[in-house]
Amino acid sequence: MTQSSPALFSPLQLGSIPTKNRVFMAPLTRCRADAQTLAATELHATYYAQRASAGLIVSEATQIHATGQGYPNTPGIFSAAQEAGWKLTTDAVHAKGGNIVAQLWHVGAISHPDFQPNGALPVSSSDYNPGGTIYTQHGKKERVAARPLSTQEVHEMIAAYKHAAEVAKRAGFDGVEIHSANGYLLEQFIRDSINKRSDEFGGSIENRIRFTLAAVDAAISVFGAGRVGIRLSPVSAANAAMRDSDTQASYGALVEALAQRRIAFVHFIEGNTGGARDLTGFDFAWAKKVLTAAGVAYIANNKYDRAMAIEAVESGAADAVAFGVPFISNPDLPERLKLDAPLTPANPKTFYSPGPEGYTDYATMHS
Ligand SMILES: Cc1cc2nc3c(=O)[nH]c(=O)nc-3n(C[C@H](O)[C@H](O)[C@H](O)COP(=O)(O)O)c2cc1C
Repeated sequence: MTQSSPALFSPLQLGSIPTKNRVFMAPLTRCRADAQTLAATELHATYYAQRASAGLIVSEATQIHATGQGYPNTPGIFSAAQEAGWKLTTDAVHAKGGNIVAQLWHVGAISHPDFQPNGALPVSSSDYNPGGTIYTQHGKKERVAARPLSTQEVHEMIAAYKHAAEVAKRAGFDGVEIHSANGYLLEQFIRDSINKRSDEFGGSIENRIRFTLAAVDAAISVFGAGRVGIRLSPVSAANAAMRDSDTQASYGALVEALAQRRIAFVHFIEGNTGGARDLTGFDFAWAKKVLTAAGVAYIANNKYDRAMAIEAVESGAADAVAFGVPFISNPDLPERLKLDAPLTPANPKTFYSPGPEGYTDYATMHS
């Protein structure tokens, strides 16, 4: 690279959050929360602080409610213990000059009675069974059909998003990212292939995006729009997310509504999460234009390497690029990318295993 300082390494004003560069850390579930309280621990604080040179860290997905869990030992963001646990992380990241937002999550049907309070059925927009099997704390299980939330319960869940945002604020996060991607609860409302409701949260596009927008509005009421972002994966098949009948129309309406709200950012998974970057079905360049006109940052993600990220920001296709797997094994990723230094490959066997191995023991260039 002849260019001395590509825009990827320059600061960005992300809503109300100033970032020192545009190399962001994508949300990465690592299943290492305390097994009893589902709180983040000192180990999380160490891991995130090691990665504080990212312009922005998006935390691993954190469930907003006891019904929102679908994997072992994922951290929550609704109890006092969880608030205290996350405070360790935000303090450690801030001490190193970093920014961190909490990814607010509810898995909906991507769960199992083993994860649910009193062994109840998981909840969703409809009686939706994603099919296949799921690993719970009791081993491999067949998936079951979820129970549709009543209209009243959707309103209660919107209140749970607000409560989680309040906990995130008290825990010291710089903002939140609403997880409306990868086939989880909010996407189970957006997609007409899954959502069979006839109330105000089903049917028309306006109705199907209502829950997602209400979750965004709840977060805005706590943090202000400049500290709220959202993650979308319009063309990903992650977690059996069947496409809706017109993805451009549904996600187009959502993007326009988000632009009107002037939130900090929309974080797009371009293509199939962690897989092929086939963008067919949604006009990402159109979304970038709509968001830019409203002052909303476009964060790009999915299988970016150094050259692609530099080009994306240089060409104006994205305002920042989020890296997932490369950040697992390269805590000093921004510096390595800047110097074009070699990257350490990640070991997938320790993505979800307990303890520090494959978590806090990846070396920096200087360690
Ligand atoms: C171990 C692992 C955990 C992940 N956890 C999350 C998560 O909690 N929330 C989310 O939105 N995406 C999650 N993803 C998707 C990543 O954020 C990212 O979209 C994907 O890895 C593609 O980006 P990359 O090619 O830079 O890794 C996860 C991916 C991996 C590999």
